Amino acid sequence: MSEDLATLRQEIEDTPLGTEEAIDGFRIRFLSRKQGVITALMKRIPDIAPENRKTYGQDVNALKQRVEARLEEAQQALSSSNAPGTDQTDITLPGRVVPEGSLHPLTQTMDLIVHAFSSYGFQIAEGTEIEDDWHNFTALNFPEDHPARDMQDTFFIEEGKTLLRTHTSPVQIRVMKSQPPPVRVIVPGRVYRNEAISYKSYCLFHQVEGLYVDQGVSMADLKHILHAFARTLFGHDVRMRFRPSFFPFTEPSAEVDIWWPDPDLPGGGRWLEILGCGMVDPNVLEAVDVDPEVYTGYAFGMGVERIAMLRYGIDDIRTLYENDVRFLKQFKS
Ligand code: DAH
Repeated sequence: MSEDLATLRQEIEDTPLGTEEAIDGFRIRFLSRKQGVITALMKRIPDIAPENRKTYGQDVNALKQRVEARLEEAQQALSSSNAPGTDQTDITLPGRVVPEGSLHPLTQTMDLIVHAFSSYGFQIAEGTEIEDDWHNFTALNFPEDHPARDMQDTFFIEEGKTLLRTHTSPVQIRVMKSQPPPVRVIVPGRVYRNEAISYKSYCLFHQVEGLYVDQGVSMADLKHILHAFARTLFGHDVRMRFRPSFFPFTEPSAEVDIWWPDPDLPGGGRWLEILGCGMVDPNVLEAVDVDPEVYTGYAFGMGVERIAMLRYGIDDIRTLYENDVRFLKQFKS
């Protein structure tokens, strides 16, 4: 083999063929019809002295076969390394961030409330969001002319008959109708009101209702359980007060406030209402055929949005309904 051919042979053996580009370049350099090295060597055959022509031809052919063999090998190696399941990890690439979901702040707050009362022995009950007038108002001792029955406050489906429930209290009626006392339930759920939307009110929101009916249930039991709850939610040192109030379905009724410390306020803080409660009105017990001479009970109801807004320092209720991920991801638990 001439010196030229020997150099070429070396090149053919040594060229790295690890990538598609290298393989293409190699094929073009040696086999291209127009300017390929092997092609050019073949074209020179007629000019070679007749006595050397045979050896020359054989040598060039051998080179061509080596080129083809290397191409074949390289192509195979490349396609098997691209096969699925082949580890091609590039450890220099930055890692991929997998976006992590989280529970909505309302769900978290609702879970917390429900969990606290379950741990005191309350069962979870649920009603329906489409309710009838009797469960939502009449059985709960709302007088015929009560303003809540007005179209202004209630979304009626059929006026005076079916409606979107305005509170979770009708579930008290449903539960007591379906089982005799003792009854001890907690009712998380969604409620609707025909209100002007603003930073503090929305047309739908969530409540958690509580009901305990048995022989000898007293206001002291109510205070005790609500105090335990306030401590769970707002810490051991929470200050809480009962303020007389009115609800058609409880007598006596109260609203519960907690002290919210704020050094910027005169007096160092303020009282904030967190829920309504009271002793179940005898008229309500009668509506569900429970004898008020034998049984007494307490009930309470709270707005979940209000508690979530307090806990997280949220000042506009609408942000809880806009599903803006930038807002929601602040509340990863
Ligand atoms: N249902 C009342 C409301 O929506 C809240 C409430 C107050 C529920 C007192 C009760 C209760 O069970 O005893 O405003």
